Amino acid sequence: NGNYTVTFIEGDGIGPEISRSVKQIFAAAKAPIEWETADVTPILKDGKTTIPEEAIKSIKKNYVALKGPLATPIGKGHVSLNLTLRRTFNLFANVRPCRSVPGYKTPYDDVDTVLIRENTEGEYSGIEHEVVDGVVQSIKLITKKASERVLRFGFQYAQSINKKHIRVVHKATIMKMSDGLFVSIARDVAKDFPDVKFDTELLDNTCLKMVTDPKMYSDIVLVMPNLYGDIVSDMCAGLIGGLGLTPSANIGDECSIFEAVHGSAPDIAGQDKANPTALLLSSMMMLQHMGLNEYAEKISKAIMDTLAEGKALTGDLGGKASTTEYTNAIISKLQ
Ligand code: IPM
Ligand code: MN
Repeated sequence: NGNYTVTFIEGDGIGPEISRSVKQIFAAAKAPIEWETADVTPILKDGKTTIPEEAIKSIKKNYVALKGPLATPIGKGHVSLNLTLRRTFNLFANVRPCRSVPGYKTPYDDVDTVLIRENTEGEYSGIEHEVVDGVVQSIKLITKKASERVLRFGFQYAQSINKKHIRVVHKATIMKMSDGLFVSIARDVAKDFPDVKFDTELLDNTCLKMVTDPKMYSDIVLVMPNLYGDIVSDMCAGLIGGLGLTPSANIGDECSIFEAVHGSAPDIAGQDKANPTALLLSSMMMLQHMGLNEYAEKISKAIMDTLAEGKALTGDLGGKASTTEYTNAIISKLQ
């Protein structure tokens, strides 16, 4: 019937307001998406907190979910639901593009980076011990299987977006075994993609060069272990105007979850202040993933035109507009 059903997780903090904005804009654009709302309020099962079965079923059935930010409690015994979702569905690749908004002034012009983050292991394995009082270990787990999977995806992705250059970012000079394995697997995988240029770069050097001249990365797809990807993607966001603007896609073999790079921002929640652009751009990645490019193009243009005009910017971008006013400005361009 030409309808596509997507699981919808509105999220915590600013989640509900930015999710509402996405829904309203999709409705105005007549995008053929049916939203199936899933509740991911954690439940206790076999002594562990986990996601309700209903939500898992919904995502498995629809293959695609759009999710708002979920609050991450700090401290022992709490696992972030964001991570639980990534793990539950084996969403092994986290794709984080970061592009300058035309017309929005920052110290950098024409930033256009794509970062792919290994999304299931590394420093996020959750394996931690207290060895003796005052001595602790957090294990960085790297496996051939997960590394090869994300690297292969990276090369294929590079081909698909026509940036035929993979650069693996690492610190194998220090993390000799874990990053060393990641890099050596990358070298092997690269042999299967002779049309894609391949090289490596030390993480600290990447950071230095990125904030000096991000244009050096315009034709490269960066692939890196989990925590580096977490950090470098926030740094990239800083180049273009902050976390209000950067989307992401969590890709797995069976399903994919699209979400903003930012968190739930409880400090501004419920005040109609949040910038919904990052979630909106994530939903554009979702539309493209679903083959609905026409709608993605139309809505993206309305978003970019609104940002470029600069009349209805939210506070994070130096404007005075509320979430609602910004959303309505985009909607008016769709009508
Ligand atoms: C991100 C976030 C998450 C992460 C948090 C919320 C667990 O910062 O998606 O980058 O660390 O991966
Ligand atoms: Mn992060």
